[in-house]
Amino acid sequence: MEAATRRRASPPLLMLALALLAASVPAGFCAINPQDGAALNALLSQWTNAPASWSSASDPCDGGWDGVTCSNGRVTSLRLLSNNIQGTLSNSIGQLSRLTYLDLSFNIGLGGPLPASIGSLSQLSILILAGCSFTGSIPQELGNLQQLTFLALNSNQFSGTIPPSLGLLTNLNWFDLADNQLTGSIPISTANTPGLDFLTKTQHFHFNKNQLSGTLTGLFNSKMTLVHILFDSNQFTGPIPAELGTITTLQVLRLDRNGFAGAVPPNISNLVNLNELSLASNQLTGSLPDLSSMTSLNVVDLSNNSFTTSVAPDWFTTLTALTSVSIGSGQLTGQVPKGLFTLPQLQQVVLSNNAFNGTLEISGSINKQLQAINLMNNQISAANVTTSYNNTLVLRGNPVCSVDPTVSGKPYCSVQEENTMAYTTSLSKCSSMAVCSSDQSLNPANCGCAFPYTGKMIFRAPFFTDLTNTNSDTFQQLENTLATNLSLRNGSVFLSDIKFNSDNYLQIQVKLFPSSGVSFNVSDLIRVGSYLSNQIYKPPPKFGPYYFIADVYAPLAGASSTGGKKSQISTGAIAGIAVAGGLLVIALIATALFALRQKRRANEALTGRTDPFASWGVSQKDSGGAPQLKGARSFSFIELRNCTDNFSDTHEIGSGGYGKVYKGTLVDGTRVAIKRAERGSMQGVVEFKNEIELLSRVHHRNLVSLIGFCYEQGEQMLVYEYISNGTLRENLLVRGTYLDWKKRLRIALGSARGLAYLHELADPPIIHRDVKSTNILLDDHLKAKVADFGLSKLVSDTEKGHVSTQVKGTLGYLDPEYYMTQQLSEKSDVYSFGVVMLELVSGRQPIESGKYIVREVRLAIKPDDRDHYGLRGLLDPAIRDSARTAGFRRFVQLAMRCVDESAAARPAMGEVVKEIEAMLQIEVAGAEGGGGVSSAGSSANEFDGAGGGARAHPYSDTEITRGSYGDNGSEYMPYFEVKPK
Ligand SMILES: *[C@@H]1O[C@H](CO)[C@@H](O)[C@H](O)[C@H]1NC(C)=O
Ligand SMILES: *[C@@H]1O[C@H](CO)[C@@H](O)[C@H](O)[C@H]1NC(C)=O
Ligand SMILES: *[C@@H]1O[C@H](CO)[C@@H](O)[C@H](O)[C@H]1NC(C)=O
Repeated sequence: MEAATRRRASPPLLMLALALLAASVPAGFCAINPQDGAALNALLSQWTNAPASWSSASDPCDGGWDGVTCSNGRVTSLRLLSNNIQGTLSNSIGQLSRLTYLDLSFNIGLGGPLPASIGSLSQLSILILAGCSFTGSIPQELGNLQQLTFLALNSNQFSGTIPPSLGLLTNLNWFDLADNQLTGSIPISTANTPGLDFLTKTQHFHFNKNQLSGTLTGLFNSKMTLVHILFDSNQFTGPIPAELGTITTLQVLRLDRNGFAGAVPPNISNLVNLNELSLASNQLTGSLPDLSSMTSLNVVDLSNNSFTTSVAPDWFTTLTALTSVSIGSGQLTGQVPKGLFTLPQLQQVVLSNNAFNGTLEISGSINKQLQAINLMNNQISAANVTTSYNNTLVLRGNPVCSVDPTVSGKPYCSVQEENTMAYTTSLSKCSSMAVCSSDQSLNPANCGCAFPYTGKMIFRAPFFTDLTNTNSDTFQQLENTLATNLSLRNGSVFLSDIKFNSDNYLQIQVKLFPSSGVSFNVSDLIRVGSYLSNQIYKPPPKFGPYYFIADVYAPLAGASSTGGKKSQISTGAIAGIAVAGGLLVIALIATALFALRQKRRANEALTGRTDPFASWGVSQKDSGGAPQLKGARSFSFIELRNCTDNFSDTHEIGSGGYGKVYKGTLVDGTRVAIKRAERGSMQGVVEFKNEIELLSRVHHRNLVSLIGFCYEQGEQMLVYEYISNGTLRENLLVRGTYLDWKKRLRIALGSARGLAYLHELADPPIIHRDVKSTNILLDDHLKAKVADFGLSKLVSDTEKGHVSTQVKGTLGYLDPEYYMTQQLSEKSDVYSFGVVMLELVSGRQPIESGKYIVREVRLAIKPDDRDHYGLRGLLDPAIRDSARTAGFRRFVQLAMRCVDESAAARPAMGEVVKEIEAMLQIEVAGAEGGGGVSSAGSSANEFDGAGGGARAHPYSDTEITRGSYGDNGSEYMPYFEVKPK
């Protein structure tokens, strides 16, 4: 609480400090050139949270100011990374005319436009502004910076087009514009204007994750020396230029997730140094490219294109460096070559949604790094799998699973939990685990608590896919080289949360610990941050290109961890506003957030540490204040601590504003998810008690049920049943292709039923208030369960229909009417659910690359487009074929009714359930009647196999036989159990 109420230096104080600073200039700035002194002063005037060392008491050039280096009284280098600077960049930056090095990275609160005056820094060689919040367009004046060798503007919110003048930066080696909102085409030179085709010294074109469009014709030529081309996740069209084949220095080529069309040029086979080739999710045609000469190739992904039907190419068995082969939806047929699985380095094979047939042979010497083989939805009729292969094999949706009764019970025919436990740095040598306070962590080097410098390392094209302990050597190399190159103590690097994210980048949460003391001082922070922002640190080559984005450093965050969170919220808010037009208003958000925080603080202050229910957890006989529990039990703190290995990072499965969620196994073997409130977000005792009472009364097959709680030692924890398959969002991201249309309908139906129960059958009715795809969990059978009623609001009888309250919820899902009026009703949940339906259709997040899905769909719908209803560009490619059905249109129409601006026009949840039931019924009937290959094949593993034969399959759970659609048509007959009060 002490930390939470500590404030940032308030603006008036800061102004005073500045005034003093200005007044002292004549006396104080003896060494610094007055022009540079004034410029620094002007920068400072637009920042809050500047480093404490930037004070009038010392001369910036005598070494006292962190991050400032001078030569002869002129500022030559300004590096203020990770200093939690908030504000904008003053135009006066242009006066520091001797500056050669400018790095302001990882200040998420630093934004606004990049001043054009930056173009007067004619000596500038290095410009790094990664991971800030800059907006507006990239000033064309940057083209004046002829000395520039390193330009990184990635992970900001830049918009507009890339200025052609950047083609004049002919000394540029590193060019990173990734992860912004840039539009338009890549400038190519003309008779009168420069273009990026001039950049023959540049080794890195990192333009991924923007909205760039147009063709690449004319961009590439044989004079270029590019090593990494990352153009993925844009909207490029036209052919893949044949000139690419002349840039034989290339190691990484990612053109995936664009609209490239036509045939892959044959001379791409000249790229013999290529380690990674990804052309996935485009509209490429012609035959699969012949890659047999690319003997360095480790990772290849050609999925989701429109290649002509062919058998598996020869290079499947001859490219011995391959670690990962992905050609999902590749029109491949014939036998899967046996030799593929014995490639010596192979780690992953994804060949789902093809037409492979015959017998699958996995035998011979399989290397132990082969972690996953996905052959879902093929025509394989028999399988001979050696017992020495123990890792993931997916054969669902193949005849072998539905026809052969001796095989259909095999684990590879059912939905498996991914058995990949990713590597995490071991803390096992810390015998007695200290419990660190919330912002500190255990330093693996000395087992003490300290404030680590944390952030994400993102590897955009690693040459491997195995993230498990089998590959621990690789990750330990990363730990060791980080410690050594960053001059940290041996073993003081902690890696966790290792995964491939939605962009197919390898993401690693890194914690770097100070060599002495419990925190980094500012100059160490700058030093360590620079090694990462400026690519001075080089990871082992197989990690490929990376970037790093630091989190706010807790000791500098002003108000402990809330500092970081607040920045994130306001960034999200800014994006939301930009997108939703007049829908959201800054002031409103600020007021709402402020009010929220105030309320939290008030609660804290009220309940403090002298809570009247302190004895709940231990003595349940004291029923005076104890909650009225229906089946929920009280756990001791020790019990929950033990079953989560002291709430260790490896048990963490999620986190949010309230705190973290851990998984654990109770003594009796029950797997549970434990939601542990953070200090700052605890509820008042009364609220906590109410929530438990409420949750323990709610029982429905599509709602995550509460098992118990812990209220001890100042902790508030809720213990829920563990749902094994993750959130809907994760499933859409990570395994999107295996969620076919029918599965998506069933997930929509399940979640709708859960919500309908809350609205229409729970007593008293409950409004969820935070319906979103991360609050819908999927179990082993892909049954949807709605989670997290943390924000739930009872609809009391007196104000039935409307509850006036503070706005809560998640941007992107917020009902605009609720937002404006603060009148909460069930229809707000309906709005959020409509957004989830659009996520099911598009696979996208509600706000992605600055676009709001509701608006995008509304604008795109073309009723007379018989194929895709006008939504081709927005559709999740995994369900593109399903979009031709009438059911798909109906689904989109229903979603659009749910997101109607007017709450009154939205259907009630019960009606939504009925509609989706009807759609699913048609879908199932259609698939069975038509005998469609992929849909009928996959029905063998449907969790909810209504409609005839599929119902009896061995993986159905008992509840399935009570399907509410089926013989009696679409009549609404919800699933629920009401436990008597
Ligand atoms: C596999 O498919 C190919 C091409 O469709 C066909 O020629 C072949 O006979 C099939 N093989 C088996 C064993 O069904
Ligand atoms: C499975 O493969 C092994 C090794 O290739 C072979 O010896 C065996 O006969 C095969 N079994 C069947 C049932 O085809
Ligand atoms: C595969 O699993 C079985 C039983 O779980 C075990 O006996 C065998 O050693 C494992 N094989 C390999 C290659 O790990």
